[in-house]
Amino acid sequence: MIYQAAKFRLIFFILVFPLLLSILVAGQSDCRINLGRVLSAGGNNNPPWLSPSGEFAFGFRPLSRSSSDNNEDLFLLSIWFDKVPEQTIVWSNNDHPVEEGSRIQLTNEGEFILYNSQGHEVWKAETGSQRSTCAAMLDSGNFVLINGNSSNYMWESFNMPTDTFLPGQRLRMGGRFTSRLSETDYADGRFQLRMQRDGNLVLCTIFLPTEDVNERYWASETIRNNSDTELVFDEAGFIYLERGNENIFNVTKKYLGSRQEFYYFARIDFDGVFRHYNRPRRQYALDAGSTCGSDWRIAQTTPEDICTAVMRDIGSGACGYNSYCVNSNGRPNCLCPEGYSPVDPLALHRGCRPNFEIPSCQQNGWESNLEFVEFKELNNTDWPLTDYELQTGPGIDKERCKEFCLLDCFCAAAIYNGNSCWKKKFPLSNGRQSGDLNRIALIKVPKNNVTSNCPKAKDRSTLVLVISVFLGSSLFLNLLLLIAIAVAIFVVYQRKLMNLQSADTYGVRRYTYKELHEATDGFRQQLGRGSFGTVYKGVLTSIPKKYVAIKKLDKFEKEGEKEFTAEVSAIGRTHHKNLVTLLGYCDEGNHRLLVYEYMSNGSLSGLLFGISRPRWNQRKQIVLGIASGLTYLHEECSSHIIHCDVKPQNILLDESLTPKISDFGLAKLLLSEQSRAARTHIRGTVGYFAPEWFRKASITVKVDVYSFGVVLLETICCMSSVEFAMGDQEEALIDWVYDCYSKKKLNMLVENDEEAKNDMGSVEKLVMVAIWCIQEDPSLRPSMKRVTQMLEGVVEVSVPPRPSVFSSS
Ligand SMILES: *[C@@H]1O[C@H](CO)[C@@H](O)[C@H](O)[C@H]1NC(C)=O
Ligand SMILES: *[C@@H]1O[C@H](CO)[C@@H](O)[C@H](O)[C@H]1NC(C)=O
Ligand SMILES: *[C@@H]1O[C@H](CO)[C@@H](O)[C@H](O)[C@H]1NC(C)=O
Ligand SMILES: *[C@@H]1O[C@H](CO)[C@@H](O)[C@H](O)[C@H]1NC(C)=O
Ligand SMILES: *[C@@H]1O[C@H](CO)[C@@H](O)[C@H](O)[C@H]1NC(C)=O
Repeated sequence: MIYQAAKFRLIFFILVFPLLLSILVAGQSDCRINLGRVLSAGGNNNPPWLSPSGEFAFGFRPLSRSSSDNNEDLFLLSIWFDKVPEQTIVWSNNDHPVEEGSRIQLTNEGEFILYNSQGHEVWKAETGSQRSTCAAMLDSGNFVLINGNSSNYMWESFNMPTDTFLPGQRLRMGGRFTSRLSETDYADGRFQLRMQRDGNLVLCTIFLPTEDVNERYWASETIRNNSDTELVFDEAGFIYLERGNENIFNVTKKYLGSRQEFYYFARIDFDGVFRHYNRPRRQYALDAGSTCGSDWRIAQTTPEDICTAVMRDIGSGACGYNSYCVNSNGRPNCLCPEGYSPVDPLALHRGCRPNFEIPSCQQNGWESNLEFVEFKELNNTDWPLTDYELQTGPGIDKERCKEFCLLDCFCAAAIYNGNSCWKKKFPLSNGRQSGDLNRIALIKVPKNNVTSNCPKAKDRSTLVLVISVFLGSSLFLNLLLLIAIAVAIFVVYQRKLMNLQSADTYGVRRYTYKELHEATDGFRQQLGRGSFGTVYKGVLTSIPKKYVAIKKLDKFEKEGEKEFTAEVSAIGRTHHKNLVTLLGYCDEGNHRLLVYEYMSNGSLSGLLFGISRPRWNQRKQIVLGIASGLTYLHEECSSHIIHCDVKPQNILLDESLTPKISDFGLAKLLLSEQSRAARTHIRGTVGYFAPEWFRKASITVKVDVYSFGVVLLETICCMSSVEFAMGDQEEALIDWVYDCYSKKKLNMLVENDEEAKNDMGSVEKLVMVAIWCIQEDPSLRPSMKRVTQMLEGVVEVSVPPRPSVFSSS
């Protein structure tokens, strides 16, 4: 075979070399496009510029952007095979789609400029100081700018490649091809073929927008320092690595037919597979082995099975989060499990999202109502790497495995292999299905008929803003609310008076159950259900009347009575302007209730993710307040308190938007050491949890620092990390922010926020602080005290490392 291939190449070169030579030395004689020529997008009478043989064309192609929210037609400056019916695009200026009426012009000054329909320059070919004298669409598919005085091209499309590699083209060290987002969306996707500077040719997934390598899933392994290595696509249709005129690695494994008989190209496709395509120039069968027809045929794929090739603990895998990949002849078939739907129906490799609420580990989450939970089974399927707990042993069967997952609110799915059961958390990644996988995936979903009854996270009415926010939302709630009528000074005065008169030894008032029963009119008006119990609206019969939020704890072990009073006294001793004040409590018989002051502006999540976001300066004040409240809890109050559940829903705002942290002190009270060790009763919301919750690592104040970091990012961007992860983003909010930061594109975080954009120095500082807070390694996270100092500008913020460098635990 190889011998035959070599022979073909020899014959080919003898036939084609003279022609090749004439192309290379052509220079000025190629010129068909002279100074002043213009080509417009859309409209009639705009024939593309063709190569001499008519094989390739240069011009504008209409873009059918499916997911575009503006319906206007856009065009891309492109090069395509003009003689094949599909007019396959091989190059495009994909960063610059333009509207109808835009034009590309080779100006009289020799510059090649793309103007939009208003006549503004949107792109210009980089030619350095030299000017071109003409341009040409060559028969190789290369579009070039020529200067008659120089033997080199001023600019060529071959040196600014998109996703397609053509015969005659070379990829030098540092060069790369980038996949598209989907079959029809030419924007950059997340796969690249790179000719690295160390001489290695790799296929990799990247982080956007930094384009830093995430995972190399195929490599030629041809590393050599200080070598000059190039990827070559020769005129005979072979792709190989060349180092010092020597072929050191064949990417093409077999001869694909001569160029006279076939069209060729190679492309890193939107699904991450590097494919060599060919098709007969004429539509007849060449020999018995080749199929008749005019379609592009896939002659070779690299890697052969991308489902198993892309597999790393950070990153989603070949098919995106929550999906699973089935290899069918080198093509990844991306599927969603039952109960999930594609993020983008036109680009299945971008992952799936659940049709139900992401389990929040709140008591009113669907997953807490065990009768309404069921498991969908998928044979021969696995989501490796994201497990956080393993149960193994002879007693474990499939039903036991389901039960483990059922009883753990974090568990999104379990994998069972006959004697072991792995619990997996959201988002599921690297999913794969294959006949040789002896594993059953058990996917936890709400039963069909109850899905619609699930409270929706964003069901807001506009009437009484505060009340409706909390009633409508399952996430919020906890303690809240109402007093607003009283003038602030009066309230403070009243509280002092009350404390003087009836404060007991804990500094908070002890109420009888009867008093609170009356205050709430028999617990009639429920404000919502939180992590630890139900919150009711109440009014105290003091003068003037005072609205309060009364939390009825519903999980409390009897033995804990002493502990309860101890904790209440600890909470009662906390006094800080950024903590919600505990006014009183009740512990009578089985009843455990807490009475809190009321906050008139609802919670931070209502504010941030609601209709009108707070202004940038207010947001800066809010994060500083939260940091200062947490510093107090961690370091300054007499008993050091780890909050364990810092999230925007637990941060309430008073009438002047001063943030007040709520629900502190309860984690310790209500979580026994055992359940904490088992990590199965963790209360809180997945996105805010530090990684050590999922490991066998100890829980320290640094878990709050992590959660604060996430809240800080959300406050900067006014975006919810939970919704972000389930949206059409391929990465978590924290990866995205880090990429924007390291690529110096922080303005992307605060788009449409002029006030923040005029204060990019502060935005950068806050982002840097946040990145320090969300470090994987707890010891790298600063203390809350230091965070506060950094936010205040008292200490400098140093450059943070990438947060997700995994410590090898
Ligand atoms: C080509 O060279 C001549 C003489 O060296 C110079 O006058 C002319 O401007 C050059 N043309 C371009 C396009 O650089
Ligand atoms: C390349 O150089 C680095 C240090 O400069 C060295 O660590 C590495 O081993 C070298 N690799 C090869 C393949 O020579
Ligand atoms: C690549 O294939 C050619 C035949 O097409 C062969 O001559 C050459 O030795 C191969 N190179 C390597 C590095 O195997
Ligand atoms: C899974 O495999 C078992 C045993 O091989 C079979 O009985 C069952 O029908 C399969 N389930 C599905 C959904 O294919
Ligand atoms: C849901 O359907 C199951 C049977 O499929 C039934 O037992 C259950 O009562 C239904 N639940 C509701 C809320 O309708």
